[in-house]
Amino acid sequence: MILYEWSSAHLFPPQSVWFHPSLGRRSPPTHGDGTSTYNVFPQQEYRHNVSRRVHKNIYKHINSATAIYTIPVGHNPMGVTMSVERRRHLLEIASAYDLLVIEDNAYGYLKYEEVETPTLKSMDKEGSVLMMGTLSKVIGTGFRVGWVIADKPFIEKMSQAKQPINMCTPSISQFIAYEYLKRGYFEKYHREAIKVYREKRNLMLSTLEQKLDGARFTKPIAGMFIMLWLPEGCNGEEFAKQFLEKHHVAVVPGRSFYTDESGVNTIRLNFSRPSKEEITEGVEKLAKLYKEISTR
Ligand SMILES: Cc1ncc(COP(=O)(O)O)c(C=O)c1O
Repeated sequence: MILYEWSSAHLFPPQSVWFHPSLGRRSPPTHGDGTSTYNVFPQQEYRHNVSRRVHKNIYKHINSATAIYTIPVGHNPMGVTMSVERRRHLLEIASAYDLLVIEDNAYGYLKYEEVETPTLKSMDKEGSVLMMGTLSKVIGTGFRVGWVIADKPFIEKMSQAKQPINMCTPSISQFIAYEYLKRGYFEKYHREAIKVYREKRNLMLSTLEQKLDGARFTKPIAGMFIMLWLPEGCNGEEFAKQFLEKHHVAVVPGRSFYTDESGVNTIRLNFSRPSKEEITEGVEKLAKLYKEISTR
């Protein structure tokens, strides 16, 4: 059982760690002296702004979990980034409940503001964090060459588990990755990508603010995505379908990213791929449809 953690430092200030509700239920673990591990969260832990509801969820589900999966920088699809304090807290939780942390750092290189984001791996004192990276967001989507940084026993187990799945990552992709990195293309690309993506992010956010005054959306400091909430009661899947058919613009309905129905009215917007002209035009069209459905 893996718990999915949605960090929300830049979006929902009062709520720091979300555990999906669709997890199993067992009684909390106890120490030899009979005290519950749940007690590792004394009252002052609320300085982290973790709500009581979240603690209740941990209490309910933690025993059936073996790992926490998290995308701490530029979360896909939320576009949010985890604060340092919350990283510390997440590691405290993992330590208290003896959970593995899977840190997906796919967007760690795509950061547009000077915000401190030490990797969980760099903060890990217990060898319980497995950090993954990928070149898919750098060389090109779907390139599918990545890496894992973890203690040796994990790497050995993962290699064994991977072999029956695909035997070996294609050599040709690995050679391309090797040459790409060796020739310094990564650094060159990175400088350019950050500059261009930052401009596009700023443009999408300012156009959303202008055209969709009052709408709720995330303001990413990293990554490629903005999550937008449609008015309560609207269906993101319906919206995406109509948007594509009427305006020929594609957005991803957020629902498939959730394990419950709470994301039905969300859509994920991407700002890295479209041109600046397409961003302006796309958001204007989005605002039009958004207003139409709001008045229905
Ligand atoms: C958080 C995250 N991790 C990993 C990936 C995919 O990486 P790869 O192409 O190396 O499988 C994506 C791509 O969408 C992603 O958003």
